[in-house]
Amino acid sequence: MNATTPDSKKMIERLQVLQAAETWCARLLAGWLPGIANWEAKHEAGLQLWQNLQTARDLRGRLWELRVPRPDRFEQSNMLETVIRRLASAQHDFEFIAGLHLGFKRALVRAYRDYEQHTHATWDAPSIPVVRAARVQAEAQIAWAEKFLQQEAQAPEQQRLATRWREFTEELVCASGLFGTTAAPLPELPPAYACLLPIANARRDARFKTQLQGFERPSTTDVEAHTQWQFLNYTMEMQAAETLGSVLWETEGMEWEFYFDAGRHCYDECRHCKMGEERLNELGHRLHEFPQFIGNYAWRQLYDPMRRYGMLTWIIEQDAFALKHETYKDYVARGDARSAEAVLYDIIDETLHVRWGTKWLPELLKARGEAKTVDEVVAECRQAVVENSLAPAQRAYARK
Ligand SMILES: [Fe+2]
Ligand SMILES: [Fe+2]
Repeated sequence: MNATTPDSKKMIERLQVLQAAETWCARLLAGWLPGIANWEAKHEAGLQLWQNLQTARDLRGRLWELRVPRPDRFEQSNMLETVIRRLASAQHDFEFIAGLHLGFKRALVRAYRDYEQHTHATWDAPSIPVVRAARVQAEAQIAWAEKFLQQEAQAPEQQRLATRWREFTEELVCASGLFGTTAAPLPELPPAYACLLPIANARRDARFKTQLQGFERPSTTDVEAHTQWQFLNYTMEMQAAETLGSVLWETEGMEWEFYFDAGRHCYDECRHCKMGEERLNELGHRLHEFPQFIGNYAWRQLYDPMRRYGMLTWIIEQDAFALKHETYKDYVARGDARSAEAVLYDIIDETLHVRWGTKWLPELLKARGEAKTVDEVVAECRQAVVENSLAPAQRAYARK
């Protein structure tokens, strides 16, 4: 802290910008999630977007204490959105990561550090651990990106593009005046750069073969094949995370808590995917032995984000409980506690997801000014899953 007197109004407004920046980082990562090919980076994006939303929640909690009931109302909110939308226009996943982490998040770290140095250590003491934790988290996210780019963007052309995009981002953030710099006209995007979001087809890296179609369910009498099928199917839940990512990016006009819940939901689906991969490893397999099924993401993108969310929560997740309970009991009966416990944790998460669907689908209808009732939209969602799902078990349960 220096000896000058901090202006509480300005410090509070800085916190408002920072919480919104964290929320927008989460939504941007979510939008790009299907477009990130590298498997480990995709998982990291799912984790980081949830970390960013938790930081936004903590900052908003502090803002509530500081008597700011509407933290998203601040002078630079449109500018922040403009910056984020330009950052979305990266043309490659490695460029996107370079811009977000090495450009935008480095500026965020400087803003957090500046806040820590300039606020009053006693008067504003409760803000300090929140801001410090946010900075430490952003630094760790940047360190991950530096390592990722060193390993995955080694070709000279990739390095050239990543550097150019990072420099563009730095210039953009500086000109925006968002984090204490002097505002200036924003730089133009590089020639021919246009936003690729929403991503039409989920990407997988070169280690995977991909296929549009899901896998037939083996007979439950073939215990080994059925267990393998179940945990392989869990790995395909990356598609659910990717659909939720697109929903998080595309949905406008919802209250902040919707983005928070959808972010957790998205991260949970990455975890379910990882749980499937870990269990397959325990069963003696490697994920790359199997093709990745990506068709369900692709067809869901043909519908609007409200219906995508409705299909996931009201139909696909709701319907999956019957199979999950049945297989949980089978694992218990056979003494396969490891598989049973994994399924049980998943059921617990899925119960939350379905509850969020019940809470948010009606709100999504309102935000869109949808003339149809919730029941009518849900009936359309069911029809869409029955007609289009490329997962045979999902189609079979939706028909019932
Ligand atoms: Fe799941
Ligand atoms: Fe789920």
